[in-house]
Amino acid sequence: MSVDLTTKYLGLDLAHPIVPSASPMTGNLASLRQLEAAGASAVVLWSLFEEQIVHDEEQALALAEFHSDSFGEAVGGYFPTLQDYNTGPGEYLKLIRDAKEHLEIPVIASLNGTSIGGWLRYGKLMEEAGADALELNVYLIPTDPETTGAEVERQYLDLVMALKESITIPLAVKVGPFFSSIPNMATRLIDAGADGLVLFNRFYQPDIDLDALEVTPNLRLSHSDDLRLPLRWTAILKGRVLGSMAVTSGVHTAQDVIKLLLAGADVTMMASALLRNGPGVLTDALEGLRAWLEENEYESVRQMKGSMSQSASPDPAAFERGNYMKTLVTYARPGV
Ligand SMILES: Cc1cc2nc3c(=O)[nH]c(=O)nc-3n(C[C@H](O)[C@H](O)[C@H](O)COP(=O)(O)O)c2cc1C
Repeated sequence: MSVDLTTKYLGLDLAHPIVPSASPMTGNLASLRQLEAAGASAVVLWSLFEEQIVHDEEQALALAEFHSDSFGEAVGGYFPTLQDYNTGPGEYLKLIRDAKEHLEIPVIASLNGTSIGGWLRYGKLMEEAGADALELNVYLIPTDPETTGAEVERQYLDLVMALKESITIPLAVKVGPFFSSIPNMATRLIDAGADGLVLFNRFYQPDIDLDALEVTPNLRLSHSDDLRLPLRWTAILKGRVLGSMAVTSGVHTAQDVIKLLLAGADVTMMASALLRNGPGVLTDALEGLRAWLEENEYESVRQMKGSMSQSASPDPAAFERGNYMKTLVTYARPGV
């Protein structure tokens, strides 16, 4: 029996639900090709950052002012175009074009930023470069005690609306889990124009080096245990929120993929597993998914998707507070 592994994500038809998410593995053509050869059904390119775009434009502006003051006659003759100075963003658009030229699978470009501004026009440029869809990563860490939760949420929604206005390709929004009401925020992001959500951003937490007395960036790759947080929220949001759902954080094995699909994910995304073990983990997860579906007599991914979401569950309380005391008591028993 051959199982139908296809899934729909952001309106795109994908061969199956395992996709490499944004990371250095998706930042150059050679590794993109390896990921496609390993079986990836689409790729999310690493991000182009608001800061990169703004920095490049400031540099170009400074250079333009310098030249126009001193070598006015050169402007228009030898003066390089803005694009030539935009090596970061320019390179990024080239990566999209190269990926589109050399890969068969859909290419999702990624913009990473937090404020409304001119950098957002790169959404349109990414579309023009051939991206099949766009992922907006809002990596926002509010530090001002005067800023309210409502203001932070407004910032997300304004960004989505501004970007959506300028593009016609589908838009996914990658967010973290730190909202007072995730279902409410998820609904409003979709209402603001997002075609799907990517759950969840992992916020990289700095550490303190006690010898050097320095704050050190500390990038810890994930493990399958990190799946629990998005697993719960996928199960809760499934059926409650319109739009596609992709899950990132803790997807390492076929079992992780299967759990997320049962909870209701349309797509599962890998970064740490690929960085740690190479593209072969994606092939293994795909084979494991196929084998599990066959063993359990599913005909398709579509058939299993969401079958253990909260709304489909015979025990909806398992995802809520009701399960909390039960879990604590179960843990205490063996040790006492
Ligand atoms: C080294 C590294 C670089 C990353 N770069 C990006 C990025 O450019 N844009 C982005 O949206 N996410 C980025 N991420 C986040 C991943 O796409 C992913 O969402 C996160 O690592 C959680 O998935 P995982 O548990 O499979 O690692 C990066 C992650 C790592 C480890």
